[in-house]
Amino acid sequence: MPTPPGGRVDSDVVERGLRRRYNRAQKSTRPPKLRASMDRRKFLATSGIFGAGLFGASNAASSLLHAEPRPDFESNLNLEDKPVAFSVPPLPYPNDALEPYIDARTMEIHHDKHHGAYVTNLNKALEGHPDLQAKSIDDILKNLDSVPENIRGAVRNNGGGHWNHSLFWQLMKKGGGGEPKGDLAAAINASFGSFAGFKEKFKAAGLGRFGSGWAWLLVKDGKLTIDSTANQDTQYIAGGKAVIGIDVWEHAYYLKYQNVRGDYIDAWWNVVNWDKAAELYSAAKK
Ligand SMILES: [Fe+2]
Repeated sequence: MPTPPGGRVDSDVVERGLRRRYNRAQKSTRPPKLRASMDRRKFLATSGIFGAGLFGASNAASSLLHAEPRPDFESNLNLEDKPVAFSVPPLPYPNDALEPYIDARTMEIHHDKHHGAYVTNLNKALEGHPDLQAKSIDDILKNLDSVPENIRGAVRNNGGGHWNHSLFWQLMKKGGGGEPKGDLAAAINASFGSFAGFKEKFKAAGLGRFGSGWAWLLVKDGKLTIDSTANQDTQYIAGGKAVIGIDVWEHAYYLKYQNVRGDYIDAWWNVVNWDKAAELYSAAKK
């Protein structure tokens, strides 16, 4: 390093040079396993496949919990944290897309804060369980018995919250509502007498769910059925395959509808994405 005029070496320059050399040495002497872990983390961060697997697709196009690669990744020795296993999928529409039936503020809090918290807590519960972190959320929830007992409750609640909400966002859309068509419409009419009859029974399931939970239209044993689950229990607990589901937690409607859950359910029919429901019905029948 050249000595500046006067013979004084700039201490910042020296420190930067030493730090670079130290980081290079650390990189080359890191145990292979640690290097592999870092490489995997860098790959995941760069490729955006955190939390892949839900409903058979990557859900990390953009996410609240996505760890963006930092420019100092290779040189900062404090970045040895664990990979984030799951992340919040972005809403497939703007926060205000479902107005006036579901207000933008509710959507923002519901998606960013509530769904965000489920994912944060799920990732926290899975720390130190690389085998579970590597699985899809479906595989974890299908086999809750194989989750260690000390984290099973947290995984059931937070993993369930992640699964349910990831589906819920897709089951609504701007300009939704109307009536189902095709095979799904025929099956609803055959099972419940009419679409109006179905809506009445589905609403009753939502109203009848004491406390917090979900009302579902499921395919169970090849037939359409209406059911509800408590808290964040999913279709896997209910033993069916979801066609539609409505979140009846107060956080889904309180800002606009306060305690009147029935009005929220009535309004929700205006935003249902029946195309998505038909797709799920068709897949469930296979
Ligand atoms: Fe919710």
